[in-house]
Amino acid sequence: MGWMAGIVMLVLLVMFVHDMTQTHHAVRRNFPVIGRLRYFLERQGEYFRQYFFAHDREELPFNRATRAWIYRTAKGLGGLIGFGSTIDLREPGTMIFVNSGYPKLEEECTPAPPMVIGPQCEHPFIANRIFNISGMSFGALSAPAISALSQGAAKAGIWLNTGEGGLASCHLEGGGDLVYQIGTAKYGVRDADGNLSESKLREVAQRVKAFEIKLSQGAKPGRGGVIPAVKVSEEVARIRGIAAFTASISPNRHKEVRTPEDLLRMIQHIREVTGRPVGFKCVVSSETFLSMICEAIRRHGLDGAPDFITVDGGDGGSGATPQVLADHVGLPLCESLPMAVDTLIRYGLKDRIHVIASGKLVTSADVAWALCVGADFVVSARGFMFALGCIQSLQCHKDTCPTGITTHNKRLQKGLVVVNKAERVATYAHWLNYELDEIAHSCGLSNAREFRREHVRIVQTAGRSMPLNQIYPYPSYEPTRGQLAHGFLSEIK
Ligand SMILES: Cc1cc2nc3c(=O)[nH]c(=O)nc-3n(C[C@H](O)[C@H](O)[C@H](O)COP(=O)(O)O)c2cc1C
Repeated sequence: MGWMAGIVMLVLLVMFVHDMTQTHHAVRRNFPVIGRLRYFLERQGEYFRQYFFAHDREELPFNRATRAWIYRTAKGLGGLIGFGSTIDLREPGTMIFVNSGYPKLEEECTPAPPMVIGPQCEHPFIANRIFNISGMSFGALSAPAISALSQGAAKAGIWLNTGEGGLASCHLEGGGDLVYQIGTAKYGVRDADGNLSESKLREVAQRVKAFEIKLSQGAKPGRGGVIPAVKVSEEVARIRGIAAFTASISPNRHKEVRTPEDLLRMIQHIREVTGRPVGFKCVVSSETFLSMICEAIRRHGLDGAPDFITVDGGDGGSGATPQVLADHVGLPLCESLPMAVDTLIRYGLKDRIHVIASGKLVTSADVAWALCVGADFVVSARGFMFALGCIQSLQCHKDTCPTGITTHNKRLQKGLVVVNKAERVATYAHWLNYELDEIAHSCGLSNAREFRREHVRIVQTAGRSMPLNQIYPYPSYEPTRGQLAHGFLSEIK
């Protein structure tokens, strides 16, 4: 025993001398040895806060109550609660749907019907469900995570967006609907000079239902995709056509898209080459950005018009992003979605261009709000990560994800059992889509496609709510003389 105490004393002495003489940490210099506890406890707090100290509705980006709702829903255990709601219905921002005095009887309800994206295309996309999976690239996510998403999506009849890392075999496992995202690096569809390759586009078009050009994403507007070197495994590198274990950094914008006209040209080109619907994903922080695109459509006609616009909220997630962009750039969806929808209505384009909304829409109430605003579809990334078992450990940018979702470390991937998680993905998608109709029935509607702004009220100050159509009144569409002269209206119809 004596010798053990001696060793401990020696270690403490070495630490003491090291702490006194090092120059990096003031606390350790002033309080040798004991000052180290601060760093240890600070680190542990990251892991234990959510279990012991944070309140159910306190954490960000997603609080425990929301996460628990998704976990239960994904396991098929959601739905019923006892005693009553734990939400404070007087909190500003709370959504309250307006129930009808005469809700629909079960036999009067019809499930939300499929919607056709790009009906004028050679191969229109018949999208079956409202709530689908947002883009997360192979690279940001592990192969087993994408396998589970692919199989779950096929089972639930929803689409899976590939994200900007190209098409991997795991995307194809389920055999369901895929939307191919063309990021600014054009991974998977570029030629040797980095330009769009028509032959590759045609090849990919055999396997996917639609193409989404990524202009920006909510967590990092103005910054291209980033996969840190540690996550660029041999397979990720092969599919992207880059060197393994070097960071994958996409340009901040498509080099050929500098103006609305450039964008419309690119859309038209991809649609002509592939015969598939084409849209774009963006963050909307000002009215002028979309207005200028609509003006360009007005000038050049509908040939280059997108079939859909995905509006991503500034509070969206990412596999890796500079904190300052995530924290301070890009409007959150609660403001940007009404702005985008209203611009399209004002230009008479809302029926032609479908709106897909994303950004922290992970519960059925969130999604129903987006439909009330005017979205046609909603996609989620992190909702489906929770369905896969994500515990919000905030390590997507490292290769250390404890649940195997965002790591290429084979040992950590073992925790993610694909068949089991695929089932959870499908169950989450199924129940969420089901509950949308349930809210609609309560509002006296036949299904969720009938939501309008007057069906939801938002609490403004404690205890007082306002209908959404008063907060964001529907704009009126007044065609200009020029539009009428150019037959713009008849083209739309
Ligand atoms: C791990 C991860 C990877 C992502 N990869 C992409 C991507 O490749 N392309 C893209 O446009 N968005 C990407 N996103 C953003 C999502 O598609 C989505 O726009 C955003 O997270 C908002 O949805 P959410 O709040 O439901 O997560 C990623 C998000 C996460 C969390």
